[in-house]
Amino acid sequence: MNTALRDDLLDKIRSHQALIGIIGLGYVGLPLALAFAERGFPVLGFDVDAAKVGAIGRGEGYIKHLDPARVAAAVETGKLAATADFARLREADAILICVPTPLTPQREPDMSYVVETGRKVRDALRPGQLVVLESTTYPGTTDELLRGLLEETGLRCGRDVFLAFSPEREDPGNRSYQTTNIPKVVGGVDPDSATVARALYDEVIASTVAVSSARTAEAVKLTENVFRAVNIALVNELKVVYDRMGIDVWEVLDAAATKPFGFMRFNPGPGWGGHCIPLDPFYLAWKAREFGLSMRFVELAGEVNVRMPEYVVDKLWLALNERGKAVKGSRVLVLGLAYKKDIDDPRESPAFEVIDKLCRLGARVGYHDPHVPRAPRMRTWPDLPPMVSEALTAELLAAQDAVVVVTDHTTVDYALVAEHASLIVDTRGVYRAPRPNVVKA
Ligand SMILES: NC(=O)c1ccc[n+]([C@@H]2O[C@H](COP(=O)([O-])OP(=O)(O)OC[C@H]3O[C@@H](n4cnc5c(N)ncnc54)[C@H](O)[C@@H]3O)[C@@H](O)[C@H]2O)c1
Repeated sequence: MNTALRDDLLDKIRSHQALIGIIGLGYVGLPLALAFAERGFPVLGFDVDAAKVGAIGRGEGYIKHLDPARVAAAVETGKLAATADFARLREADAILICVPTPLTPQREPDMSYVVETGRKVRDALRPGQLVVLESTTYPGTTDELLRGLLEETGLRCGRDVFLAFSPEREDPGNRSYQTTNIPKVVGGVDPDSATVARALYDEVIASTVAVSSARTAEAVKLTENVFRAVNIALVNELKVVYDRMGIDVWEVLDAAATKPFGFMRFNPGPGWGGHCIPLDPFYLAWKAREFGLSMRFVELAGEVNVRMPEYVVDKLWLALNERGKAVKGSRVLVLGLAYKKDIDDPRESPAFEVIDKLCRLGARVGYHDPHVPRAPRMRTWPDLPPMVSEALTAELLAAQDAVVVVTDHTTVDYALVAEHASLIVDTRGVYRAPRPNVVKA
């Protein structure tokens, strides 16, 4: 390695002079940009979405759980700017990539965003830059795919430029843990890359965890999400089994969670959602196939969790049936569209699957979500009618044949719901004590 390049970059990092380029200003990229800007680094964000670039230019936030005043302050002090001109990547000393890593319709890794971004970085690459991939992906992406693209320039990783993977562990809406106090795992494709990448995060993150390679860092992130996916599936399966036995899974979990060791609580729900848990495990399963291995835990977790919305709808129609009603023609209000409580992110939310199934059965479906005023058009459910969140009033509730609690946002008045809804299908354990109008699902 050219030690002068490394030491020069380390100096810029430690003096907070290094210009941080962040590609992808979404749920991960924007908080990261703010973290660096708030520690005094100049930050230049890059996004293909003109609306996001424009909002930052005006000092406006666009992610509900992030205080817009933080964006305004970072822009006002001149520390944060955004652009769609990717040639300006050349100005950056460190380039952090936070673009989407979804699945294809065949549930295989869709690397198109990473590849497109990698090409843009390649076209602007100059000696002495650090490139870090933060998007969740299969082991080998950084070392094989990204390194391959960057080295098309003739520059060599570990000699002319630095390359690392550092997984994002953002948990949107979590009040205790945010970007800067979640320990950050860092793995470089060579020792100097690891040193420089870790030095960068050490300036803004309370603690960093070095692992031996980018590949290991990629595996760490997938391990965390496979762990969640499998445990969510397990607890969902327990819910179904205990329900058939006449046992309340929530009471079981409350009691089991009193064990001070050897038990970690997961809660059942209407399925799984968000950009991570339903997708990331399949990145690992896909890569495992290249090694002649199948990941049965991942596939099984998928089967169990994907079946949950159907279980919820089955519970609903059985409960309506007991009341002498059909699903067809019934009015059903879905409470909560976001995939988890107190956030505005509806991606992969099981709420859409529940709504879609109910619509297909002929129900008249509406929803209330204080965080999602308008249901976005979803690629997976293109036939859903356009919907807006309805005001949660006693009249609205009384007019429903059923209310389905899909997401347990804290600001919803559940006492009001219990008082006025004739039937509530509760997938989140909001109503613990038995009530004649509540069915747990
Ligand atoms: N959301 C989370 O809580 C979370 C947590 C951990 C890891 N991740 C991972 O982080 C990555 C990003 O996720 P996210 O939730 O921030 O996604 P997001 O959709 O909120 O943001 C991605 C951003 O990238 C932009 N973008 C797309 N293509 C681009 C391109 N070619 N060039 C520049 N910008 C481009 C989009 O316009 C968008 O603003 C994914 O790999 C995801 O799995 C997300």
